[in-house]
Amino acid sequence: MNDRVTGNMTIVVIGLGYVGLPLAVKFAEHYKIIGYDINKKRVTDLNEGRDWNNDVTNEQLKKIENNITFTTDENEIGKGNIIIISVPTPLKPNNDPDLSYVESASRVVGKHIKKGAIVVYESTVYPGCTEEFCLPILEKESKMKLGEFYIGFSPERMNPGDSAHSVDKIVKLISASHPEALEKMRIIYSKITKTHSMSSIMAAESAKIIENVQRDINIALFNELSMLFDKLGLDSSEVFDGAATKWNFIRYKPGLVGGYCIPVNPHYLAYKAHKIGFNPEFILAGRKTNDRMPIFIASKAKQLAPNGRVLIIGASYKENVAELRSSRIKNLVEALQQEGFINMQIYEPLVSDQEVFGLKNETPSGKFDLIIYAVAHETLKDIQLEHLLEKNGAIIDIQRKLDRKKFDKIRYWAP
Ligand SMILES: NC(=O)c1ccc[n+]([C@@H]2O[C@H](COP(=O)([O-])OP(=O)(O)OC[C@H]3O[C@@H](n4cnc5c(N)ncnc54)[C@H](O)[C@@H]3O)[C@@H](O)[C@H]2O)c1
Repeated sequence: MNDRVTGNMTIVVIGLGYVGLPLAVKFAEHYKIIGYDINKKRVTDLNEGRDWNNDVTNEQLKKIENNITFTTDENEIGKGNIIIISVPTPLKPNNDPDLSYVESASRVVGKHIKKGAIVVYESTVYPGCTEEFCLPILEKESKMKLGEFYIGFSPERMNPGDSAHSVDKIVKLISASHPEALEKMRIIYSKITKTHSMSSIMAAESAKIIENVQRDINIALFNELSMLFDKLGLDSSEVFDGAATKWNFIRYKPGLVGGYCIPVNPHYLAYKAHKIGFNPEFILAGRKTNDRMPIFIASKAKQLAPNGRVLIIGASYKENVAELRSSRIKNLVEALQQEGFINMQIYEPLVSDQEVFGLKNETPSGKFDLIIYAVAHETLKDIQLEHLLEKNGAIIDIQRKLDRKKFDKIRYWAP
């Protein structure tokens, strides 16, 4: 099979968020693309050249405008030879997978797919989900059997706010129900990046999920060590740096673990493990430790500035990303309230909301007893914290991004 076979294919991308939009735009350099989303505002904005996630510029959208259409019309899905599903896969309140988006996307795709189409899931799911959960929906809605259409799984690894690892720069795992479908996927995905074929969909689902499980566990180890060394009166960073002079010590950083992937994926894997009667003790232990971090930081805040006026700088879930969903700063605010802090303000320059997590979000003025430098956005690098501090004020530098030497006369703590 060669390029002539895939050259005039139409790719439909379902869900135009952090994952779907950059992928659709990259593919539009080579194929006709239909971007489908249920969010009308998102589709209107994209048709007018605006990506509110700031992953894709107006110029980029202009360049490929003849090759891409954005729509909320589900009938367009039927035109796709390849249909890529990149809808959210969050957690339910009880930490079980919330598959409602994948379910509704599968239903609408099943209703419209044509014979021979390949449905590729890019949403992160637990091992087995594509074949056990999604496929029966596709078969039921399409009234076809697998083999009349095909399924694939190609997980996404992109990292919002990180231009060094954009879609075209990361190896893409690909897997499919049939060798001929895998070969088509290989040709198509190879147009935009390097591919790595997996022998089964379940192996690819598993590979994706453990990437984030590993990060969660490693950060949890450093979070626990940070809590322990703090009790021992040590500067954990000094200890970590010392250990890192050994050739095989891997230096992680303690911190708040937010976002849609790292705190979510371990629960997906654990869900599958429990379903087959396996107890994933170690995988979930990391989750518990990481969830304790906001409480630990709030207790340090109480020691440094009991009942003081607090300024939290940065509220999004990671630096340079204007996304408040799934940010652990919300948990930190709650933990600070539990510790009795009532006079708090947030400064999140990347969002225009006047209130964030129940606190006023505004450019800081006046003096504070405690500044929590929570998310070190690039745009904050010149902020003069020392001018915002009361005489005996203190700083908590959650990500250890401040120049410690600049604050050697100021009470300073970092996890
Ligand atoms: N954001 C990341 O950093 C990242 C990285 C790797 C993997 N992932 C995974 O990729 C998937 C998508 O994540 P995201 O961050 O792009 O989500 P997102 O919330 O940014 O975007 C999802 C989009 O899907 C749309 N949508 C929801 N249900 C739909 C439906 N039934 N039909 C059509 N559109 C629908 C929403 O309106 C939204 O625009 C998730 O499984 C996530 O775990 C995300």
